[in-house]
Amino acid sequence: MKSNPWNDYYARRAREEQYPARSVYKLEEIQKRFGVLKKGSRILDLGCCPGSWLLFASKIVGDSGLVLGVDISPLPIRLPPNARFIQQDVLAWDESFLEAIGANFQTVLSDMAPSTTGSKFVDSQRSLQLSESALAISTRALRPGGAFVCKIFHGFDLKRFSDRLRKSFTRVSHFKPKSSRKPSKEVYIVGRGKKAEKI
Ligand SMILES: C[S@@+](CC[C@H](N)C(=O)[O-])C[C@H]1O[C@@H](n2cnc3c(N)ncnc32)[C@H](O)[C@@H]1O
Repeated sequence: MKSNPWNDYYARRAREEQYPARSVYKLEEIQKRFGVLKKGSRILDLGCCPGSWLLFASKIVGDSGLVLGVDISPLPIRLPPNARFIQQDVLAWDESFLEAIGANFQTVLSDMAPSTTGSKFVDSQRSLQLSESALAISTRALRPGGAFVCKIFHGFDLKRFSDRLRKSFTRVSHFKPKSSRKPSKEVYIVGRGKKAEKI
């Protein structure tokens, strides 16, 4: 029988450790490298479904912290006690959304991904739109010194987006986790030390 290429080490491990998606190990690697999640922190997780990052982050921030997940789709898992969920299209955010989520987050995560079309140009443009929305929300919701982790598809706009981040964060890094599938065009941009002035 032909083996399923998606049933890899990380997918099996996610099932064993009861995470709904293998993507949890990307955040684990990001956390090991950059330490963006801390005990007691308020974390905003944009594009949180099916909930692996949310579960992982909720374990790290602990009872004194909070993880607020947002997704266009309903959340398919039971929330841990220190997590909340809001269903929202992040491309259509407005002031009432900002009021609902509150401010003063230490870290904003965005693992949002568009539905892919097969066209590198269209996919990277859609990914960029999601990333720009995530950055605009961070502008308002992230506290000075905070961190921003954002998935983006490799494309010609990646450099422009990184340059934009450098104006707002003291350190900006690109990271491709080992657990990210090799053919995937995704890369994570990590901005640390949000500058005090408006992004
Ligand atoms: C790769 S998944 C995230 C996986 C998640 N980090 C986890 O570990 O379970 C990408 C998510 O982005 C969400 N998404 C895509 N476009 C969105 C939008 N416009 N607003 C909110 N969420 C969106 C999708 O619904 C999907 O759940």
